[in-house]
Parts: sequence; structure tokens; C-alpha cells
Amino acid sequence: MILVLNGPNLGRLGTREPDVYGAETYADLVTLCRDTGAELGHDVEVRQTDSEAELIGWIHEACDGRIPVVLNPAAFTHYSYAVRDAIAMRTAPLIEVHISNPAAREEFRHTSVVAGVASGTIAGFGLQSYVLALHAIAEMKPTS
Ligand code: DQA
Repeated sequence: MILVLNGPNLGRLGTREPDVYGAETYADLVTLCRDTGAELGHDVEVRQTDSEAELIGWIHEACDGRIPVVLNPAAFTHYSYAVRDAIAMRTAPLIEVHISNPAAREEFRHTSVVAGVASGTIAGFGLQSYVLALHAIAEMKPTS
């Protein structure tokens, strides 16, 4: 099982700034991740929340269950030390993903406070960022 966790405003994919995030909807993202998991032989559960507390609870759940995670922390990426501290407890791979390339956008997006505790980061490939991350997790050792 792999958890795909999404932070604030990602439930609005499709209508949210389509020039930046594309025309595909959150439902399309869920289908894409599940289909990719099926190809790789993994159950994939996709969740989205606008709440920092809920996201942290899901990261704790992954820590306790040694569940690998693909995480798009959305805006929390840039300032949430609480999300970072939760990820620091991880017991399985966790890959940070972004649809856009934050390094090519506004200055405040250039800092990720979670990158230093993730297994790695994939950014800038649209929804394919999630596909690449799921492939990477499928190839990784459980403790990476
Ligand atoms: C994002 C990039 C973040 O800077 C932004 O706050 C998001 C989405 C992305 O997937 O490109 O909400 O994480």
C-alpha cells in the first residue's frame, strides 16, 4: 500500500489556475495514481485535505504503519515546520512532489522546509510528477 497525500487547494485542480496546474481535475489525479499503482502491483490510496492538522495525522498514520508516501504538501511546503517534523519521524520512503516547478516561480516558493527530511523531490512534470514518484517508491528499499 502507498499513500498519496495532498495538501491545501489541490482538491480544486482543474479550476485552480489551470495555466499553472493544468486542466486535469483532482478526480483525474486520483484515477491516475490508482491506475499507476495497479500497474506496479500496489494499492494506492489518495487523500486531500486543506487542514494542516489532518495532514499531520495522516503522516503519523504512515509512520506507525511503515507506509510509503507520495506527498504534495502544497503551500505547507514553504513554511510548515510542523509538517516537516512529522515527516522526520518517517519509517518508510516519502517522496515530495509538485505539479509545477516551484524553483521557477515566486521567491517564497524556492524554499522547501520538507525537502531535507524527504527521500527525494520530484517537481515540474505536471501530474506525471506523481507517476514518477510512484515508480520511484516501487523501486526503493523499504527503509530508504
Ligand atoms: C504546489 C506548489 C506550491 O508552491 C503551491 O503552494 C501548491 C502546489 C505544486 O504542486 O506545484 O499549492 O505544491
